[in-house]
Amino acid sequence: MADSRLTSMDLGLKDRVALVTGAGQGMGRGIALALAREGCHVAINDLRGEAAHTVSAEVSGLGRGSLALCADVSEETQVSAMFKTLNERLPPLDILVNCAGIGDSGPFAKSQSSDWNRVLGVCLYGTLHSTRAALPRMIERGFGRIISIVSDAGRVGEPGLVVYSAAKAGIIGFTKALAREVGRHGIHVNCVSPGATMTDHIQELYARMKQQMGEAAFEERQKKVLKRYPIGRFGEVEDVASAVCFLASDRASFITGQTLSVSGGYSMV
Ligand SMILES: NC(=O)c1ccc[n+]([C@@H]2O[C@H](COP(=O)([O-])OP(=O)(O)OC[C@H]3O[C@@H](n4cnc5c(N)ncnc54)[C@H](O)[C@@H]3O)[C@@H](O)[C@H]2O)c1
Repeated sequence: MADSRLTSMDLGLKDRVALVTGAGQGMGRGIALALAREGCHVAINDLRGEAAHTVSAEVSGLGRGSLALCADVSEETQVSAMFKTLNERLPPLDILVNCAGIGDSGPFAKSQSSDWNRVLGVCLYGTLHSTRAALPRMIERGFGRIISIVSDAGRVGEPGLVVYSAAKAGIIGFTKALAREVGRHGIHVNCVSPGATMTDHIQELYARMKQQMGEAAFEERQKKVLKRYPIGRFGEVEDVASAVCFLASDRASFITGQTLSVSGGYSMV
Protein backbone atom coordinates (compact mmCIF):
# COMPACT_ATOMS: atom_id res chain seq x y z
CA MET A 1 0.00 0.00 0.00
CA ALA A 2 2.77 2.47 0.94
CA ASP A 3 3.43 4.34 -2.28
CA SER A 4 5.88 7.23 -2.45
CA ARG A 5 3.74 8.87 -5.16
CA LEU A 6 0.94 9.35 -2.66
CA THR A 7 1.01 12.90 -1.40
CA SER A 8 -1.54 14.16 1.05
CA MET A 9 -4.92 15.35 -0.18
CA ASP A 10 -6.00 17.79 2.50
CA LEU A 11 -8.88 16.10 4.26
CA GLY A 12 -9.61 19.10 6.47
CA LEU A 13 -9.35 16.98 9.61
CA LYS A 14 -7.02 19.32 11.51
CA ASP A 15 -8.09 19.75 15.15
CA ARG A 16 -11.05 17.42 14.82
CA VAL A 17 -11.55 15.29 17.94
CA ALA A 18 -11.88 11.53 17.48
CA LEU A 19 -12.42 8.47 19.64
CA VAL A 20 -11.37 5.06 18.34
CA THR A 21 -12.55 2.00 20.26
CA GLY A 22 -10.40 -1.13 20.40
CA ALA A 23 -7.42 0.99 19.43
CA GLY A 24 -4.81 -0.71 21.61
CA GLN A 25 -3.49 -2.69 18.64
CA GLY A 26 -4.15 -3.73 15.05
CA MET A 27 -6.57 -1.83 12.90
CA GLY A 28 -7.82 0.45 15.67
CA ARG A 29 -4.26 1.57 16.42
CA GLY A 30 -3.59 2.11 12.69
CA ILE A 31 -6.79 4.17 12.33
CA ALA A 32 -5.97 6.26 15.41
CA LEU A 33 -2.46 7.04 14.14
CA ALA A 34 -3.72 7.82 10.62
CA LEU A 35 -6.31 10.26 12.03
CA ALA A 36 -3.59 11.84 14.20
CA ARG A 37 -1.33 12.23 11.14
CA GLU A 38 -4.24 14.06 9.47
CA GLY A 39 -4.30 16.48 12.42
CA CYS A 40 -6.95 14.96 14.71
CA HIS A 41 -6.72 14.75 18.47
CA VAL A 42 -7.49 11.13 19.24
CA ALA A 43 -8.79 9.38 22.35
CA ILE A 44 -7.79 5.74 22.54
CA ASN A 45 -10.17 3.18 24.02
CA ASP A 46 -9.23 -0.40 24.75
CA LEU A 47 -10.17 -3.14 27.15
CA ARG A 48 -6.45 -3.39 27.94
CA GLY A 49 -5.45 -0.18 29.71
CA GLU A 50 -1.74 -0.57 29.13
CA ALA A 51 -2.21 -0.97 25.36
CA ALA A 52 -4.47 2.11 25.31
CA HIS A 53 -1.79 4.14 27.12
CA THR A 54 0.94 3.01 24.72
CA VAL A 55 -1.04 4.05 21.62
CA SER A 56 -2.17 7.27 23.30
CA ALA A 57 1.53 8.11 23.87
CA GLU A 58 2.17 7.44 20.16
CA VAL A 59 -0.60 9.91 19.24
CA SER A 60 0.86 12.50 21.64
CA GLY A 61 4.26 11.87 20.01
CA LEU A 62 2.72 13.11 16.75
CA GLY A 63 1.93 16.39 18.49
CA ARG A 64 -1.80 15.80 18.96
CA GLY A 65 -3.98 15.74 22.04
CA SER A 66 -4.80 12.28 23.30
CA LEU A 67 -6.34 10.35 26.13
CA ALA A 68 -6.26 6.67 27.07
CA LEU A 69 -9.67 5.30 28.05
CA CYS A 70 -9.74 1.80 29.46
CA ALA A 71 -13.27 0.37 29.13
CA ASP A 72 -15.09 -2.73 27.92
CA VAL A 73 -17.42 -1.42 25.22
CA SER A 74 -19.80 -4.33 25.75
CA GLU A 75 -20.60 -2.93 29.22
CA GLU A 76 -23.02 0.00 29.11
CA THR A 77 -21.92 1.45 32.47
CA GLN A 78 -18.25 1.38 31.48
CA VAL A 79 -19.06 3.16 28.22
CA SER A 80 -21.05 5.84 30.09
CA ALA A 81 -18.12 6.41 32.46
CA MET A 82 -15.72 6.54 29.50
CA PHE A 83 -17.78 9.26 27.78
CA LYS A 84 -18.01 11.22 31.02
CA THR A 85 -14.21 11.33 31.20
CA LEU A 86 -13.93 12.04 27.48
CA ASN A 87 -16.38 14.95 27.67
CA GLU A 88 -14.57 16.40 30.70
CA ARG A 89 -11.06 16.09 29.28
CA LEU A 90 -11.27 16.79 25.53
CA PRO A 91 -13.19 19.26 23.36
CA PRO A 92 -16.47 17.91 21.91
CA LEU A 93 -16.22 14.70 19.92
CA ASP A 94 -16.44 15.05 16.13
CA ILE A 95 -15.59 11.51 15.02
CA LEU A 96 -16.40 8.15 16.58
CA VAL A 97 -14.78 5.04 15.11
CA ASN A 98 -16.30 1.80 16.45
CA CYS A 99 -13.47 -0.65 15.88
CA ALA A 100 -13.48 -2.97 18.91
CA GLY A 101 -14.44 -6.45 17.78
CA ILE A 102 -13.88 -10.13 18.44
CA GLY A 103 -14.69 -13.18 16.37
CA ASP A 104 -16.07 -16.66 17.01
CA SER A 105 -14.64 -19.79 15.49
CA GLY A 106 -15.76 -23.29 14.73
CA PRO A 107 -19.07 -24.70 13.47
CA PHE A 108 -22.23 -22.96 14.65
CA ALA A 109 -23.89 -26.31 15.45
CA LYS A 110 -21.31 -26.84 18.18
CA SER A 111 -21.36 -23.28 19.55
CA GLN A 112 -22.63 -22.20 22.98
CA SER A 113 -24.94 -19.26 23.61
CA SER A 114 -22.36 -17.87 26.07
CA ASP A 115 -19.94 -17.52 23.11
CA TRP A 116 -22.61 -15.73 21.05
CA ASN A 117 -23.21 -13.27 23.87
CA ARG A 118 -19.56 -12.23 23.98
CA VAL A 119 -19.29 -11.74 20.20
CA LEU A 120 -22.60 -9.87 19.98
CA GLY A 121 -21.73 -7.96 23.15
CA VAL A 122 -18.45 -6.57 21.87
CA CYS A 123 -19.22 -6.15 18.16
CA LEU A 124 -22.90 -5.17 18.11
CA TYR A 125 -23.72 -3.88 21.61
CA GLY A 126 -20.30 -2.21 21.84
CA THR A 127 -21.15 -0.21 18.71
CA LEU A 128 -24.64 0.64 20.02
CA HIS A 129 -23.34 1.72 23.44
CA SER A 130 -20.60 4.01 22.13
CA THR A 131 -22.76 5.46 19.37
CA ARG A 132 -25.65 6.28 21.70
CA ALA A 133 -23.26 7.87 24.19
CA ALA A 134 -21.72 10.04 21.45
CA LEU A 135 -24.97 11.17 19.82
CA PRO A 136 -26.49 13.74 22.26
CA ARG A 137 -23.54 16.15 21.98
CA MET A 138 -23.22 15.55 18.23
CA ILE A 139 -26.92 16.38 17.80
CA GLU A 140 -26.51 19.47 19.99
CA ARG A 141 -23.60 20.69 17.84
CA GLY A 142 -25.13 19.66 14.51
CA PHE A 143 -22.03 17.72 13.49
CA GLY A 144 -20.76 14.18 13.75
CA ARG A 145 -19.07 11.38 11.85
CA ILE A 146 -19.69 7.82 13.02
CA ILE A 147 -17.75 5.07 11.29
CA SER A 148 -18.05 1.42 12.30
CA ILE A 149 -15.59 -1.23 11.26
CA VAL A 150 -17.59 -4.21 10.12
CA SER A 151 -16.36 -7.08 7.93
CA ASP A 152 -17.09 -8.58 4.54
CA ALA A 153 -18.16 -11.60 6.63
CA GLY A 154 -21.23 -9.51 7.48
CA ARG A 155 -21.91 -8.81 3.80
CA VAL A 156 -21.45 -12.25 2.24
CA GLY A 157 -21.35 -14.62 5.26
CA GLU A 158 -18.33 -16.60 6.41
CA PRO A 159 -18.45 -20.24 7.52
CA GLY A 160 -16.90 -20.69 10.97
CA LEU A 161 -17.70 -17.05 11.74
CA VAL A 162 -21.46 -17.33 11.82
CA VAL A 163 -22.27 -15.26 14.91
CA TYR A 164 -19.60 -12.72 13.98
CA SER A 165 -21.18 -12.44 10.50
CA ALA A 166 -24.57 -11.84 12.16
CA ALA A 167 -23.12 -9.18 14.49
CA LYS A 168 -21.41 -7.31 11.65
CA ALA A 169 -24.53 -7.53 9.44
CA GLY A 170 -26.46 -6.11 12.40
CA ILE A 171 -24.13 -3.10 12.51
CA ILE A 172 -24.67 -2.54 8.78
CA GLY A 173 -28.47 -2.45 9.29
CA PHE A 174 -28.08 -0.21 12.33
CA THR A 175 -25.89 2.16 10.31
CA LYS A 176 -28.45 2.55 7.52
CA ALA A 177 -31.34 3.17 9.92
CA LEU A 178 -29.39 5.59 12.11
CA ALA A 179 -28.10 7.48 9.07
CA ARG A 180 -31.74 8.16 8.15
CA GLU A 181 -32.56 9.25 11.71
CA VAL A 182 -29.69 11.67 12.30
CA GLY A 183 -28.74 12.96 8.84
CA ARG A 184 -30.68 16.15 9.37
CA HIS A 185 -28.51 16.88 12.42
CA GLY A 186 -25.34 16.92 10.28
CA ILE A 187 -24.34 13.47 11.47
CA HIS A 188 -23.06 10.96 8.92
CA VAL A 189 -23.03 7.27 9.74
CA ASN A 190 -21.08 4.80 7.62
CA CYS A 191 -19.27 1.46 7.78
CA VAL A 192 -15.89 0.36 6.51
CA SER A 193 -15.83 -3.34 5.71
CA PRO A 194 -12.41 -4.99 5.58
CA GLY A 195 -11.57 -8.41 4.20
CA ALA A 196 -8.64 -10.38 5.64
CA THR A 197 -6.24 -7.70 6.85
CA MET A 198 -2.68 -8.31 8.02
CA THR A 199 -2.91 -7.17 11.62
CA ASP A 200 -0.61 -8.73 14.24
CA HIS A 201 -3.55 -10.78 15.45
CA ILE A 202 -4.20 -12.25 11.95
CA GLN A 203 -0.50 -12.88 11.40
CA GLU A 204 -0.35 -14.79 14.70
CA LEU A 205 -3.42 -16.78 13.63
CA TYR A 206 -1.75 -17.62 10.30
CA ALA A 207 1.46 -18.65 12.10
CA ARG A 208 -0.57 -21.02 14.30
CA MET A 209 -2.38 -22.44 11.27
CA LYS A 210 0.94 -22.98 9.49
CA GLN A 211 2.23 -24.89 12.49
CA GLN A 212 -0.91 -27.02 12.74
CA MET A 213 -1.37 -27.73 9.02
CA GLY A 214 2.27 -27.85 7.90
CA GLU A 215 3.83 -25.26 5.61
CA ALA A 216 2.90 -26.80 2.24
CA ALA A 217 -0.79 -27.31 3.12
CA PHE A 218 -0.98 -23.81 4.61
CA GLU A 219 0.54 -22.19 1.49
CA GLU A 220 -1.91 -24.17 -0.67
CA ARG A 221 -4.81 -22.92 1.48
CA GLN A 222 -3.62 -19.31 1.25
CA LYS A 223 -3.34 -19.56 -2.55
CA LYS A 224 -6.95 -20.80 -2.69
CA VAL A 225 -8.17 -18.00 -0.42
CA LEU A 226 -6.27 -15.36 -2.39
CA LYS A 227 -8.05 -16.46 -5.59
CA ARG A 228 -11.15 -14.85 -4.07
CA TYR A 229 -9.33 -11.48 -3.88
CA PRO A 230 -9.27 -10.01 -7.42
CA ILE A 231 -6.52 -7.56 -6.42
CA GLY A 232 -4.40 -10.59 -5.46
CA ARG A 233 -3.29 -9.68 -1.97
CA PHE A 234 -4.61 -9.41 1.57
CA GLY A 235 -5.32 -6.00 3.09
CA GLU A 236 -2.98 -3.86 5.15
CA VAL A 237 -4.04 -1.74 8.11
CA GLU A 238 -3.26 1.40 6.06
CA ASP A 239 -5.82 0.38 3.43
CA VAL A 240 -8.57 0.45 6.04
CA ALA A 241 -7.23 3.53 7.86
CA SER A 242 -7.23 5.58 4.63
CA ALA A 243 -10.88 4.73 4.00
CA VAL A 244 -11.79 5.76 7.55
CA CYS A 245 -9.94 9.08 7.21
CA PHE A 246 -11.78 9.77 3.95
CA LEU A 247 -15.22 8.99 5.42
CA ALA A 248 -14.41 11.11 8.49
CA SER A 249 -13.52 14.07 6.29
CA ASP A 250 -15.58 16.72 4.55
CA ARG A 251 -14.48 15.11 1.26
CA ALA A 252 -17.17 12.56 2.08
CA SER A 253 -19.78 15.14 3.03
CA PHE A 254 -22.48 13.66 0.74
CA ILE A 255 -21.97 10.05 1.85
CA THR A 256 -24.05 8.47 4.59
CA GLY A 257 -25.64 5.10 5.36
CA GLN A 258 -23.04 3.30 3.24
CA THR A 259 -20.79 0.30 3.72
CA LEU A 260 -17.48 0.62 1.92
CA SER A 261 -15.69 -2.68 1.40
CA VAL A 262 -11.91 -2.36 1.60
CA SER A 263 -11.13 -5.90 0.62
CA GLY A 264 -9.53 -5.98 -2.83
CA GLY A 265 -12.85 -7.01 -4.37
CA TYR A 266 -13.52 -9.99 -2.04
CA SER A 267 -17.15 -8.89 -1.88
CA MET A 268 -18.94 -6.75 -4.45
CA VAL A 269 -22.42 -6.02 -3.13
N1 LIG B 1 -8.04 -8.25 10.89
C1 LIG B 1 -8.94 -8.63 10.00
O1 LIG B 1 -8.66 -9.41 9.07
C2 LIG B 1 -10.34 -8.08 10.06
C3 LIG B 1 -11.19 -8.29 8.97
C4 LIG B 1 -12.45 -7.74 8.99
C5 LIG B 1 -12.88 -7.00 10.06
N2 LIG B 1 -12.05 -6.82 11.12
C6 LIG B 1 -12.56 -6.00 12.23
O2 LIG B 1 -11.66 -4.95 12.48
C7 LIG B 1 -11.65 -4.64 13.87
C8 LIG B 1 -10.24 -4.70 14.40
O3 LIG B 1 -9.68 -5.95 14.09
P1 LIG B 1 -8.16 -6.32 14.44
O4 LIG B 1 -7.77 -7.44 13.54
O5 LIG B 1 -7.34 -5.09 14.49
O6 LIG B 1 -8.37 -6.93 15.91
P2 LIG B 1 -7.35 -7.12 17.13
O7 LIG B 1 -7.83 -8.31 17.88
O8 LIG B 1 -5.94 -7.10 16.65
O9 LIG B 1 -7.59 -5.81 18.01
C9 LIG B 1 -8.81 -5.59 18.67
C10 LIG B 1 -8.57 -4.66 19.84
O10 LIG B 1 -9.84 -4.46 20.47
C11 LIG B 1 -9.69 -4.60 21.86
N3 LIG B 1 -10.95 -5.07 22.44
C12 LIG B 1 -11.47 -6.33 22.39
N4 LIG B 1 -12.61 -6.38 23.07
C13 LIG B 1 -12.84 -5.13 23.54
C14 LIG B 1 -13.88 -4.56 24.34
N5 LIG B 1 -14.89 -5.30 24.79
N6 LIG B 1 -13.79 -3.24 24.65
C15 LIG B 1 -12.75 -2.48 24.21
N7 LIG B 1 -11.73 -3.00 23.49
C16 LIG B 1 -11.79 -4.29 23.14
C17 LIG B 1 -8.56 -5.62 22.05
O11 LIG B 1 -7.97 -5.51 23.34
C18 LIG B 1 -7.62 -5.24 20.91
O12 LIG B 1 -6.69 -4.25 21.30
C19 LIG B 1 -12.62 -5.62 14.53
O13 LIG B 1 -13.88 -5.03 14.66
C20 LIG B 1 -12.67 -6.76 13.53
O14 LIG B 1 -13.88 -7.47 13.61
C21 LIG B 1 -10.80 -7.35 11.15
